[in-house]
Amino acid sequence: MGRALIIGAGGVASVVVHKCCQNPEVFEEICIASRTLSKCDALKQKLEGGKTKIQTAQLDADNVEETIALINKFKPDIVINVALPYQDLAIMDACLATGVHYLDTANYEPRDTAKFEYKWQWAYREKFEKAGITAVLGCGFDPGVTGVFSAYAMKHYFDEIHYIDILDANAGDHGYPFATNFNPEINIREVTAKGSYIENGKWVETEPLEIKRVYNFPEIGEKNIYLLHHEELESLALNIKGIKRIRFWMTFSDNYLTHLRVLQNVGMTSIEPIEYEGKQIVPLQFLKAVLPDPASLGPRTKGKTNIGCIFQGVKDGKPLNYYVYNVCTHEECYAEVGSQAISYTTGVPAMIGAAMVLTGKWKKPGVYNVEEFDPDPFMDALNKFGLPWKESFNPELVD
Ligand SMILES: NC(=O)c1ccc[n+]([C@@H]2O[C@H](COP(=O)([O-])OP(=O)(O)OC[C@H]3O[C@@H](n4cnc5c(N)ncnc54)[C@H](OP(=O)(O)O)[C@@H]3O)[C@@H](O)[C@H]2O)c1
Repeated sequence: MGRALIIGAGGVASVVVHKCCQNPEVFEEICIASRTLSKCDALKQKLEGGKTKIQTAQLDADNVEETIALINKFKPDIVINVALPYQDLAIMDACLATGVHYLDTANYEPRDTAKFEYKWQWAYREKFEKAGITAVLGCGFDPGVTGVFSAYAMKHYFDEIHYIDILDANAGDHGYPFATNFNPEINIREVTAKGSYIENGKWVETEPLEIKRVYNFPEIGEKNIYLLHHEELESLALNIKGIKRIRFWMTFSDNYLTHLRVLQNVGMTSIEPIEYEGKQIVPLQFLKAVLPDPASLGPRTKGKTNIGCIFQGVKDGKPLNYYVYNVCTHEECYAEVGSQAISYTTGVPAMIGAAMVLTGKWKKPGVYNVEEFDPDPFMDALNKFGLPWKESFNPELVD
């Protein structure tokens, strides 16, 4: 049916590649392109021989002309961007120039400002509409499945949703004193930024990790959760009607936070370049270089993740609470695709989103967040491709 160009060859890309190969009716041919060709070739070597044909290419996706040339050579129907958020706009430009659909899992961030918001990518709406191509933004788990869960709740259960709490718990243990589960630079920028949530149409800002609660997660148990700024708050507040408040929570262990505090106190998480032995270096990028590679955590990580959304609203004039979530086991993900659950929960939805576009279920010209599409075929595909979801109509609420 279709051809996908997958940009990036890290933890998430590896899962996308595995999952495309599990869905050969849709993904007849893929090209894995990234900065380091050997990583693309290693994936090809592991997976070739099945029905999906695999090519590889070396690519610097910051260079629009290079990406255009590769698209013209490989002729994909869609580009799945699982490189880093810094590449989003350059890859969207290449898709516009060549008339190819686009999908990513994280919104654009300028390298020198740790601030993620959709304004840069939403500015492409008209250009994508005119070109007759679809861009699907933020199609990992959070953002991604959390938006699909929201659209599903709205479509099937509520007349109005007033409160959304997105809860992301990782109870996995990798045995290292300190490591991040995905790209350390992106992860630490996210966690050390100020927190924020939306209340009555306005952003409320908090100090980093200022707001803490304890939540008893199904299948995981009690965990400390911290309020973070997260990109889907911005789009869900616009796309889900009747929202009064929307918050995002993530679990962190005391051990993780103690290490992070020390690293922050000594300046290692800064993104301001410093001069070191006559050379400019960014402390956070140096820290990334000395931390364990997230891709190496797979064989060591044990335990579960639980990511989901709690909705409070009304149906037929009566109050209704609804919780929908997925529980994933790190060891099972590793046994299936050789990655831990954080990469798995991001890579599976990226493959499904691309399949939605290629099969015409999510095809409309323009730039969209996932909650703007029909959630039903995506929810079915989650069950089929390894991220089954569970529902509760009597959840514990976050106060
Ligand atoms: N929505 C969600 O739920 C969610 C969750 C987790 C992560 N994410 C996002 O998923 C994306 C991938 O994360 P990850 O953990 O897989 O990161 P990763 O392991 O660091 O992989 C990133 C890959 O992109 C490649 N790359 C970087 N710059 C490039 C460039 N200019 N041109 C071509 N390739 C380039 C890297 O190449 P090298 O190998 O040469 O470094 C690497 O292979 C990130 O954007 C992250 O924010 C989303």
